Amino acid sequence: MSIVIPTFNESANVAELLRRIDATMGSQGWEAVFVDDDSPDGTAAAVRAIACIDQRVRCVQRIGRRGLSSACIEGMLASAAPVIAVMDADLQHDESILPTMLARIDQGADVVVATRYAQGGSTGEWDASRKSMSLWATRMSRLILKQPVSDPMSGFFMLRRDVLEGCVHELSAMGFKILLDLLASSRRELRIAELPYVFRDRFAGESKLDSMVVWEYGMLLLDKTIGRFVPVRFLMFSLIGGLGVFVHMAVLTAALKGFGLDFTVAQTVATLLSMVFNFALNNTLTYRDRRLAGWAWLRGLASFVVACGVGAVANIGISTWLYEHDTRWVLAAIAGILIGAVWNYAVTQLYTWGKKRR
Ligand code: GDD
Ligand code: MN
Repeated sequence: MSIVIPTFNESANVAELLRRIDATMGSQGWEAVFVDDDSPDGTAAAVRAIACIDQRVRCVQRIGRRGLSSACIEGMLASAAPVIAVMDADLQHDESILPTMLARIDQGADVVVATRYAQGGSTGEWDASRKSMSLWATRMSRLILKQPVSDPMSGFFMLRRDVLEGCVHELSAMGFKILLDLLASSRRELRIAELPYVFRDRFAGESKLDSMVVWEYGMLLLDKTIGRFVPVRFLMFSLIGGLGVFVHMAVLTAALKGFGLDFTVAQTVATLLSMVFNFALNNTLTYRDRRLAGWAWLRGLASFVVACGVGAVANIGISTWLYEHDTRWVLAAIAGILIGAVWNYAVTQLYTWGKKRR
């Protein structure tokens, strides 16, 4: 069995977690694959220090990437074990039920979910708002789930390798909810076993869950529903582009009326500022998992402005051509905008937030 452990700033938890896994698993074969997103606290080094003396431990270190789900997927793919467990590094997941989970797999389960929402399980010391948010998210998940599961939000579960292989190409790999992603992506009916446990307090460090997980969860739900027809990132990108029009108009009005600039100057300022606005918002929302920071942010902005400049030329060229060939002006404009949007999306995805820039 391989235990995949996503980490971000968990250096103080690594040794204790491995000690406890070793204590519960005893002589049953296991390995641990840590997937660390280049934590500034040196988690990867802490893992490797142990890996030097314990061959069951490995570390996959990802650079310029973030994301719990994608980390889990890459960890699962980095192992050849027939059974894979996923658990957090902060000791909130009760490792003592690992052998029972494994027994359920041996008895024929495809997936074993460690659940907080069944008899004997609990969320432990959560405040009311976190509890209600979790319950609300669980309810929403029924939109995309094919089978009822009491805790599809769980970050603690085990599965057979063939379950992963059956759906790995369909995974959205967005945000925090990897189990839900797996369950919703699987095309065949799964034998799901559930095992209650009590969610503990964090051992050391702090939670990475912030208000953005709500947004990421929304992206996952959208991707699993309409994602087959339109890429969610394109939707987000277009939505933000739409907002950019309002920013443009506001800046333009201020520049014209407030500062008395002449139209060309005002329009240029408005265009540039709305581009910065679009870039910044896409960087934090649409491409949160590949977010650029520091100098890379500025380089990204520059490539974004160039790409969108070319997009604008394409937009104007095509709509003008259509207009001159007897297309109604509204249709000609919409065609231009659509082509410009697709261009901007495709090019910035590749050059602004693509692998080359990191
Ligand atoms: N590689 C990587 N990249 N790991 C990450 C990232 C990331 O961007 N964000 C968080 N992690 C790691 C953390 O280091 C930790 O080991 C684990 O993922 C869970 O993160 P926490 O910050 O501890 O999340 P939580 O405790 O609030 O919520 C967890 O438990 C819930 C109940 O099982 C998550 O697993 C939730 O998805 C889950 O619903
Ligand atoms: Mn946690």
